Amino acid sequence: HRKVNSICCIGAGYVGGPTCAVIAAANPHINVQIVDVNQSRIDAWNSDVLPIYEPGLAETVAKSRNRNLFFSTNVSQAIEEADLIFVSVNTPTKKSGMGRGFAADLGYVEAATRQIAKIAKSDKIVVEKSTVPCRTAQSIRLILEANSRSGVHFDILSNPEFLAEGTAIQDLMHPDRVLIGSQDTVAGFSACASLAEVYSAWVPRDKIITMNVWSSELSKLAANAMLAQRISSINALSAICEATGADVDEVAHAVGLDSRIGPKFLKSSVGFGGSCFRKDILNLVYLSESLNLPEVAAYWRQVVEMNEYQKFRFARKVLHSLFDTMSNKRIAVFGFAFKKDTGDTRESAAITLVQSFAEEMASVAIYDPKVEERQVWLELTSNDTDIEAKVKERVTICNSALEAAGGADAIVIATEWDEFKDTNLNYADVYRVMNKPAFIFDGRSILNAGVITDIGFKLHTIGKGTEGRFE
Ligand code: NAI
Repeated sequence: HRKVNSICCIGAGYVGGPTCAVIAAANPHINVQIVDVNQSRIDAWNSDVLPIYEPGLAETVAKSRNRNLFFSTNVSQAIEEADLIFVSVNTPTKKSGMGRGFAADLGYVEAATRQIAKIAKSDKIVVEKSTVPCRTAQSIRLILEANSRSGVHFDILSNPEFLAEGTAIQDLMHPDRVLIGSQDTVAGFSACASLAEVYSAWVPRDKIITMNVWSSELSKLAANAMLAQRISSINALSAICEATGADVDEVAHAVGLDSRIGPKFLKSSVGFGGSCFRKDILNLVYLSESLNLPEVAAYWRQVVEMNEYQKFRFARKVLHSLFDTMSNKRIAVFGFAFKKDTGDTRESAAITLVQSFAEEMASVAIYDPKVEERQVWLELTSNDTDIEAKVKERVTICNSALEAAGGADAIVIATEWDEFKDTNLNYADVYRVMNKPAFIFDGRSILNAGVITDIGFKLHTIGKGTEGRFE
């Protein structure tokens, strides 16, 4: 197989940036160029304040930046120089047209593919890193072959990314597996070996698994669908717990001890968020429907519906506990990121909660340790100036948890940041600055109920029965 000397990564986002920074650090002999059309994102990658927050990312980037790792907007030059090209662009849900609201918008993948075809003067290995519907590799192949210069050969691989935000560097350094899908041909196997060699610089060989392209593409959708399904399953149980006096953490513990089920990813919450779960399941729903498998589609769709229900159920609980009115009340929302240790807010449950409180005419005070102010406004207003004026009447952004809680009737814990735990935040101080009765709605089950109720708070925790607590 051919040795890879130069890599180009199209798309400097949450996946392309960290993945290729780790590749560059482990392969000092490979020249890695990460390119993007977004100038400000590239400027940030080249600055001291990276465009995304991940524990360990800044240190990893610092190891190789301007040595064998480069960030630029010169997409064409990077394509031309590379032996291997990762396509790591966004694949959002289609907003209009056929499959709107479900199917993946492959416009960015296609644009990147066409640019590769146009620019390439030598053979390239093109790697699908983005999460794409099953059989996208075939479309990429057709576009490349129809538009390439004569004599230029392309091999297409599927190499889905399994990193989780918040632990991206850890996941990349110690992956459960690296998956490479290739065509069943000599050229396909050779391309696969070239990419496997890049990973083998730090990943044990037995964790690098290879299979056919379609299986590889589908495996990514399947993994996300099954992860989200676990969350929806435990959240469905959390509703039963709240209604009966059972405790979802105890149930999850007992259930997770079954080695066939396992203890991980069984934490009940106010609902999953992030850019991937919802999008990838809806994508699978669309795929099932287009394959004329309506029962399969309905099954997966229910995972998303349960998640919407969980957010609604929690918001309703808050309203009901506050004597069914929020007008003239201040609600402190702790956390806006979709989970801890990331600044990413895409599909965050906090967005739905804040919007529903604002509609109830509450004044909402948000504090998140990592999410930038403009990102909160962007999520809540979608850049619409009319909406913005209305939202800013009701919502403020604070610099600390204590500031958000000042004068509030209730605290809603939307993100499980460590600093919101009662071992890190002084809830006695928080209690003092709040209106009474002071409520806490723990949407992540991070608080020690005894500690909190002893201070005087009225506490509702997701998935905990109300026995011994307030109703
Ligand atoms: P992102 O939106 O953070 O980054 C994508 C980048 O691609 C953007 O900066 C955009 O400007 C750039 N881009 C789009 N078209 C381009 C073009 N033609 N030329 C150059 N740059 C272009 O997206 P993210 O989160 O990195 O996701 C990328 C893919 O990876 C998606 O398919 C996603 O489903 C998948 N994925 C995401 C994970 C995550 O945790 N965010 C985990 C695993 C997979």
